[in-house]
Amino acid sequence: MKIGSSNIYITTMLACISRTSYAFSVHGGSRRAATFRTAAVRSSHKQNNLNRLQLQQSFLSATPATSFDDGTCPYYITTPIYYVNDKPHIGHAYTSVACDVLARFMRLSGREVMFLSGTDEHGQKVEASAQKKGVAPQDFVDEVSMNFRELLTQMNVSNDQFIRTTDAEHKAAVQHMWTTLVENGAIYLGAYEGWYSVRDECYYNESELVDGKAPTGAEVEWVTKEPSYFFKLSDYEDKLLEFYEQNPDFIAPESRKNEVLSFVKGGLKDLSVSRMSFKWGVPVPGDDDHVMYVWIDALANYISALGYPSVDAGTKYSNFWPASVHMVGKDILRFHAVYWPAFLMAAGLPLPKRLFAHGWWTKDGEKISKSLGNVIDPVELVEKYGVDQTRFFLMSEVTFGSDGDFSDEKMVQKVNSNLANELGNLAQRTLSMVFKNCGKAVPAEIGSYTAEDEALLAKAKELREVASTAIANQAINKYADACISLVWDANKYVDDMAPWALKKTDPERMTTVLYVLMETLRHVAIMYQPLMPASSNAVLDQLTVPAEERTFGHLDTSPIKFGAPISKPVGVFPRIEMEEPVQV
Ligand code: MSP
Repeated sequence: MKIGSSNIYITTMLACISRTSYAFSVHGGSRRAATFRTAAVRSSHKQNNLNRLQLQQSFLSATPATSFDDGTCPYYITTPIYYVNDKPHIGHAYTSVACDVLARFMRLSGREVMFLSGTDEHGQKVEASAQKKGVAPQDFVDEVSMNFRELLTQMNVSNDQFIRTTDAEHKAAVQHMWTTLVENGAIYLGAYEGWYSVRDECYYNESELVDGKAPTGAEVEWVTKEPSYFFKLSDYEDKLLEFYEQNPDFIAPESRKNEVLSFVKGGLKDLSVSRMSFKWGVPVPGDDDHVMYVWIDALANYISALGYPSVDAGTKYSNFWPASVHMVGKDILRFHAVYWPAFLMAAGLPLPKRLFAHGWWTKDGEKISKSLGNVIDPVELVEKYGVDQTRFFLMSEVTFGSDGDFSDEKMVQKVNSNLANELGNLAQRTLSMVFKNCGKAVPAEIGSYTAEDEALLAKAKELREVASTAIANQAINKYADACISLVWDANKYVDDMAPWALKKTDPERMTTVLYVLMETLRHVAIMYQPLMPASSNAVLDQLTVPAEERTFGHLDTSPIKFGAPISKPVGVFPRIEMEEPVQV
């Protein structure tokens, strides 16, 4: 059976069926968990249940199909590997958290996931940083790479593997790829002279320079003529254009794709892929005087991490390659969208399915740079605002793919309104009312649902569909927006239903309203796990949702159990108080 967006409809139908099974089992005007079906209903629903189980089984491990992902196959997602010339900054945290949200979302959707991150440890830039510190390159990279590994832990990033380009297996894999390229006639020995930017680790044509600098603003240096191996990139101009045409969703967002297209249409020159003037790199097989260009070394990490050159059935490579998504910043798209596909084509290997280029953060409207002294340290953000708050802000503040501007005011405003005032308040007031008015337990009995109850529950049930469609397209902010919107609706529902007033006038109705709210919160918290893992789970704990019933598959199958005891509620999203007051 083909699983895709149609399957989402199946789920909505299933949601209706399962709602029938616990929402319309009237027993003396009220409902109890254990008494929700008559024998007649049971037998007439037998076949339906079988079908439902089969369908649910398939939806348990699926996300909506797109033109680049069937929604069921193993999902392989990668961050760029980070240069270890300096300590981690917000850009590194941003890319890593974005991938983490996608990886966690896919796991909770039931898909098999491989999530890779790591460090890019060779090249002139790293060699120069080690020299500046007066330490051997290997000692230097060992220390700095550790900072990046720690950053992932501090940001609660769930990568399955951490690759270092100084790993022996990686070096052997790159050398194998190089030899394959030579055997396939894609590499030849020539001589290079021209402009090079060490900061960008990139060659530039004279025509690309702006006021004597790289278009990125980086300094460039003239490389005097030296022997160099070249990759026949010019052979791949037409092949790449044909590939982009046949795979229109290969590069996202669309605006970035157009940049790549015009770059390739502008003509591709053969690429210098080895250097003799420094030593800190992977030696060219059979010619130790050369080390490989750092980008050929770095890009190969995506397959070396899977055990390439072992590619036979049953290997990690055969299970996960081609990658589902390479997540990159907009500045390194060209390397991923032009060089990497050309290397893979030349090596006879399949191309990744999707490249997504996210935007850049600025600080108070200015480009972030060391010289301006406005670098944002992600660890400081986490210490000041909390991990989930930082993750939430970075992922929901701007359209994923566009640039964003960071300021403490925006951070406080967003966290205080969407988390403290809206989600935190919803959870706190619902749980407090249940704790105080329902005997410190989930209501044991509730009444029939009204149209308002049904409407809110229906919106809660739709959340997975909306969020999954967004995530299938890496529209991370849209996924967050869908959760935010459901919380708004739930808060409006509380205000309209005024359960505190029902306490005296209609206690049974109060229990129904509170149960509807708990169920809505269960949906919100389950769906928020990829974005805010710890906080969502703290809410789920308080809602009495068992730890093993928190996957997306459980949304429709495992409602909160009537009568379960709850403990005194604890606030999960504290308000951030600024020294200087911020208007919220
Ligand atoms: N080593 C290469 C990648 C090789 S992948 C085979 C590299 N490393 S990097 O450490 O310089 O950059 C890592 C990521 O951080 C890039 O995706 C880059 O776009 C991102 N960012 C750097 N500064 C950033 C911001 N100010 N905002 C958002 N992301 C930014 O490039």
